[in-house]
Amino acid sequence: MEFEEVVKKRTATRKFSEKNIPQKTLERILKTASLAPTAKNLQPQKIYVLSSKRSLEKIDKISPCRYGAPTVLFVCSDRSIAWSDGEYSTYETDACIVATHIVLEATNLGVDNIWVRRFDIDGAKREFNLPDNIEPICLIPMGYADKSYTGNPMHTVRKNLEETVIFENNQ
Ligand SMILES: Cc1cc2nc3c(=O)[nH]c(=O)nc-3n(C[C@H](O)[C@H](O)[C@H](O)COP(=O)(O)O)c2cc1C
Repeated sequence: MEFEEVVKKRTATRKFSEKNIPQKTLERILKTASLAPTAKNLQPQKIYVLSSKRSLEKIDKISPCRYGAPTVLFVCSDRSIAWSDGEYSTYETDACIVATHIVLEATNLGVDNIWVRRFDIDGAKREFNLPDNIEPICLIPMGYADKSYTGNPMHTVRKNLEETVIFENNQ
């Protein structure tokens, strides 16, 4: 797919079928994710690939937003690895860039997905026994949209560039 087509096609999917993602496709998505830039190339991301019944039940306990997806990528970041300068750390920024690569490559390969932040962070740490240095960043439920899914109405709603871009005055 052309890059622009991928970007336009990526959208939040909120109803998935039960169809599983082929392992090879998942591996391609994760390989692309590994190409994401991170501060000082420290690559602090930790991506948990969840598709067992037990793990999906755990996800349903901590979030209302799995939408029936057969696989969830639980994107985390290792604070002890990420670049930091005093209080400031790029752990979240790095992992969000990785997650962006994931949703775009998934879309490129025909795998529907959604970025989810609505989940109980402490519950996630507990359910998946995360060590203290591992910070949950987002969930990415993925699979194939259910036939009855009519799309996200917000997908076509974007602000005008005038509202979000400030050109400097060159006079
Ligand atoms: C950081 C972030 C957090 C989000 N969290 C949720 C969420 O918890 N639940 C949900 O249903 N959608 C969530 N979304 C999806 C957005 O609502 C969606 O991307 C937005 O409406 C734009 O629509 P589009 O992705 O179809 O273009 C999130 C998206 C982003 C980028």
